Amino acid sequence: MDTKIKTLQDKIALSKLGGGQSRIDKQHQKKKLTARERILYLLDEGSFEEIGALVTHRTKDFGMENQKFYGDGVVTGYGTVDGRLVYVFAQDFTVFGGSLSETHAEKICKIMDMAVNVGAPIIGLNDSGGARIQEGVRSLGGYADIFYRNVQASGVIPQISAIMGPCAGGAVYSPAMTDFTIMVQDTSYMFVTGPNVVKTVTNEEVTSEELGGASVHSTKSGVAHKTSANDVECLEDVKKLLSYLPQSNREKPESLEFELKDEVRESLSDIVPDNPNKPYDMHSVIEGIIDEDSFYEIHKDYAENIIVGFARLGGRSIGIVANQPMFLAGVLGVKSSKKAARFVRFCDAFNIPLLVLEDVPGFLPGTDQEWNGIIVHGAKLLYAFSEATVPRVTVITRKAYGGAYDVMNSKHIGADMNFAWPNAEIAVMGAKGAAEIIFKKEITSADDPEAKWKEKEAEYAELFANPYSAAERGYIDEVILPKNTRRKLIKAFSMLENKEVSEPKRKHGNIPL
Ligand code: HXC
Repeated sequence: MDTKIKTLQDKIALSKLGGGQSRIDKQHQKKKLTARERILYLLDEGSFEEIGALVTHRTKDFGMENQKFYGDGVVTGYGTVDGRLVYVFAQDFTVFGGSLSETHAEKICKIMDMAVNVGAPIIGLNDSGGARIQEGVRSLGGYADIFYRNVQASGVIPQISAIMGPCAGGAVYSPAMTDFTIMVQDTSYMFVTGPNVVKTVTNEEVTSEELGGASVHSTKSGVAHKTSANDVECLEDVKKLLSYLPQSNREKPESLEFELKDEVRESLSDIVPDNPNKPYDMHSVIEGIIDEDSFYEIHKDYAENIIVGFARLGGRSIGIVANQPMFLAGVLGVKSSKKAARFVRFCDAFNIPLLVLEDVPGFLPGTDQEWNGIIVHGAKLLYAFSEATVPRVTVITRKAYGGAYDVMNSKHIGADMNFAWPNAEIAVMGAKGAAEIIFKKEITSADDPEAKWKEKEAEYAELFANPYSAAERGYIDEVILPKNTRRKLIKAFSMLENKEVSEPKRKHGNIPL
């Protein structure tokens, strides 16, 4: 069999090898591409080399010996994306629902091992009904073989999962252990148990979309890092994501050519409102700092009070973590802490420098947060920043209050360069609350308590609602004008390019999971 796929004719011919033509037609109606079409779209033209095209399953039970398809429901191999090597597997829903047999798993494991040994990303195009029911424990073993490799590969090579159809059971746990999961809207689902099982066990009536559609996982559960409108957009998203990443933890991400000019950005001067309680969109700050149109947001619709994503700054790939005053005033909560911590750890594992844009009034108070473990989840972010050894730079654009000041990449936990805009407020809490606590007796015994409170509030604000007492102690390296931020950051990251930190010998730390 010639496995070289070059033309559309080859494409169509090969797509017929998988399984029933009727199901392929059904998929096309739903605007789903076939497994092979997906691979061809993802990879550079003519670069795909298939591995294991002639593999078939070994099952004899349930009449399976008479139902064999070459490849056994998964297309595996390697190729290039923008000239860079990647390993890829695409599950074929037309063959037993893309379910995972012993041999299907062996094919995936084979390319995972190669990807780790060679040092190149692995991309899974998932479309699978989970463990192949006819194979019993052999398929469960196959999944465990993949899960084990996901963990061995974690932090060594980037692992990206595209969810391009229904994925159930074991088919969701491997993506969950990869670095990024991108789901196609309307045609993809992820659940451990499907609606039928849910109905039997809990009597709950729920549709696939409600249980595990792209919108649920991108807004409620956070399982999906990104959603795409269709297969083509999803594959474009995978390609774009790869452009910010190194091939493995042995490398740094590729830098684009860049020449430093004046880099002054006047637009940054007018973003933060004079009124400290008025929100503004931190995306405008990000756009004002980074190279044009280079922001690739992760978890856009989940825990929107924090923004994370990749960008380019002076041609360099960086990771950005930024409080978002537009949502919940940019506070840190359970979900936002988890979201940011995972992103920080990814960047650190893959040598991607971190930029933090800070405007945070503190941690979100309340029983909901406390009962859901804000202590332990907030600690995740604190831990993640503290252990990160990549170049780390912070800009305080407005508020840096309380524990959140410490957590958001302060100098004290290992940040390299910390800047503040002139209107920054760095204090234990806002002036009003602080005055109420520390001047309580004076306020209550005053003839006009309200006026006294205002006076004390102003006194406190005068002392702390600025960046200078932090700068006097060296906690802030420089107070900068907003318009100069881009230039300062380009120079800081360039200066930090060869940063190396030696760490104490240990097996691994114990992040509060
Ligand atoms: C064998 C399977 C299969 C499976 C689907 N098929 N899932 N064959 N093993 N796991 C087959 C169907 O029999 C059918 O074959 C074809 O694939 C398409 O399935 P449909 O049900 O017609 O498609 P659809 O309506 O789109 O529903 C997709 C689905 C559903 C939601 C994925 O098929 C489903 O619920 N499947 C079972 C999911 C599941 O429980 N998997 C096992 C989980 S346990 P024909 O011949 O009719 O075309 C597991 C353990 C690992 O994975 C745990 C690790 C932690």
